[in-house]
Amino acid sequence: MPGLLSPTEQAALLTEIRAVVIAAPLYVPTMPRTGKPMSVRMTNCGVLGWVTDKERGYRYQETHPATGKRWPLIPQRLLELWDEVSGYPHSPEACLINFYSQDAKMGLHQDRDEKNFAAPVVSVSLGDDCLFRVGGNDRESGTASFRLSSGDVVVLGGEGRLAFHGVDRIYPHTSDLLKNGGRINLTLRRVNLP
Ligand code: SIN
Ligand code: FE2
Repeated sequence: MPGLLSPTEQAALLTEIRAVVIAAPLYVPTMPRTGKPMSVRMTNCGVLGWVTDKERGYRYQETHPATGKRWPLIPQRLLELWDEVSGYPHSPEACLINFYSQDAKMGLHQDRDEKNFAAPVVSVSLGDDCLFRVGGNDRESGTASFRLSSGDVVVLGGEGRLAFHGVDRIYPHTSDLLKNGGRINLTLRRVNLP
C-alpha cells in the first residue's frame, strides 16, 4: 500500500518509535549457531519481541535481551493501523523495529517463528527507500523486487504469509524523515493463536 501513511502520520509515528528506543535501546542481533552479527539493529515493542542470538537462536520473548526489562507497549496508532489493514480480529503481540543504516541489508527469509500463520505480518517503512525483494514459499521460486518508500505499508498475508522476503539495499538520502538518514521498518506480528 504505497504512501498509506501521510508525512504527518509518519512524523507522529517516528516520535513514538523514538520513545520506544529510549526505553528499549537498539542492539545488534546475532545469527543462530554462527554468532555472526546482523547488519540491522533491532528492538521491539509489545508483550513479546522477536530476538536472535548465537546460543538460543530465533525466538519471541517478553524481555529485552540487554536490559532484561519488558518491552514498551505498541503505540496506539500502530494498533489502529493493524485494525485497518490486517483483516485479523486479534491484536498484534509483537512489533519488531529494524533500523538500517545506509549499508545494512537483510537476506531472504520467511517469518515463521510465530505459532499463528492465519494472521498477516504488517510492515511499515519509515525513512530512506529500500529495494525490497519478495518471492514464493520456497527458495526455488522466482523473486520480484520493488522499491519501498517512507509511509509505505506491506501486508504479508494469506498465500503470501510465508513468502520469502528481504532487503537488498538502502538508497541513502532519499528521505528527510530521519535527520541522520537510514531506514526504519516496523513489523507487527500476531504470535500466538488465535
Ligand atoms: C523483516 O523482514 O523483518 C524486515 C523487512 C523490511 O525491512 O522491510
Ligand atoms: Fe521478515
